[in-house]
Amino acid sequence: MNELRVAVIGHRFMGRAHASAWRQVGHFFELPRRPVLQVICGRDPAATRAAAETLGFLEAAASWQEVVRRPDIDLVDICTPVALHHPIAIAAAAAGKAVFCEKPLARDATEAAEMLAAVRRAGVPHMLCHNYRRVPAIALARRLIAEGRLGQIHHFRGVYLNDRLVDPQAPRTWRHDRAQAGGGAVTDLGSHMIDLARFLVGEMTEVAADLRTFIAERPLPDGAGIAPVDVDDAATALLRFAGGAMGTLEVSRFGTGHRNYNCFELSGSAGSLAFNLERLNELALFDRADRTLAGFRTLLVTERDHPYLAAWWPPGHTLGWEHTFIHAARDLIHGIATGEPVSPDFEDGLRAQRVIDAIQRAALSRRWETVPET
Ligand SMILES: NC(=O)c1ccc[n+]([C@@H]2O[C@H](COP(=O)([O-])OP(=O)(O)OC[C@H]3O[C@@H](n4cnc5c(N)ncnc54)[C@H](O)[C@@H]3O)[C@@H](O)[C@H]2O)c1
Repeated sequence: MNELRVAVIGHRFMGRAHASAWRQVGHFFELPRRPVLQVICGRDPAATRAAAETLGFLEAAASWQEVVRRPDIDLVDICTPVALHHPIAIAAAAAGKAVFCEKPLARDATEAAEMLAAVRRAGVPHMLCHNYRRVPAIALARRLIAEGRLGQIHHFRGVYLNDRLVDPQAPRTWRHDRAQAGGGAVTDLGSHMIDLARFLVGEMTEVAADLRTFIAERPLPDGAGIAPVDVDDAATALLRFAGGAMGTLEVSRFGTGHRNYNCFELSGSAGSLAFNLERLNELALFDRADRTLAGFRTLLVTERDHPYLAAWWPPGHTLGWEHTFIHAARDLIHGIATGEPVSPDFEDGLRAQRVIDAIQRAALSRRWETVPET
């Protein structure tokens, strides 16, 4: 079978999640091309070599600039801090590589637009890693909405909380530096929820918002003193959708007790849906057509005819968070082989980024801000 030689840039949290996906995807899905874990790249040579060995890459490398130009690489998979997404994606596209990029696409819409222009100019396959679209229960939610089971959607409520920063001694990393991350909870957690809002409800036209930084400086991880935090710790926003729905968004790294609480609810004229990532095999459905028996019921999303499930285990044998990356890898490999676009793509990333930018603007202006269409 034709190989797909993968270079993963970044070897820590997302580098490991993606490496696991590239390794496992062919164990479960029929693929037109077989991924080869060719090279993993990171800043610290010893740690990168150790990661290559543990994760099963043929090589470790220190320079992403060299890696993206290598003629033996087919796909560049970007798992670095956000500021590096832009230069790596543009260089990889210019070298003719397929590009898979972690979210958020960029630090702001200007960078995102340049990245979209670069992949279009080069005509290379590309995909943004909003893996939550590929939780089977969320893919099923989208199917139910498309079938009209919810009717006209009136409400979207998105809440994404963790409690990583509630400890004032939690170290300051690249995530707390606007120059490296582009923003705080609103870009990190908010980008996921905004992508889900777009996936399930559609485009947003206007936003109003409040951002807050609760702890303005934090200790550096190496014990070398303290440094300022110049991004938000939490954000709330009101959302207006083009289709008439109204929405709320709450994202926080101070959601004490919530570890990875990625939840949404949709209320429609015919029914409602609710999802919580901490129960990711389940989807709650309320169908008004059930009349006297109506009530929220919990669907266990592990049936063969549920999205992605035919490739996995018998019903009731549940999946986990890492499977979402395997599903993304499966869809990207098919997109590369067929030439069909894969979503979310860089245009989705740009559109989500415009919402994030508008939220950041609205928090400063204390007014409703328009989400630009172009
Ligand atoms: N999809 C998700 O659920 C999810 C979850 C967490 C993070 N992310 C995204 O993934 C990306 C990476 O986040 P993370 O948590 O893995 O970060 P991390 O800090 O755990 O890892 C960053 C990696 O980038 C590498 N790196 C940094 N500078 C580099 C350079 N100049 N050259 C080569 N490598 C370099 C580091 O060596 C490290 O391996 C971010 O964009 C983040 O928003 C997505």
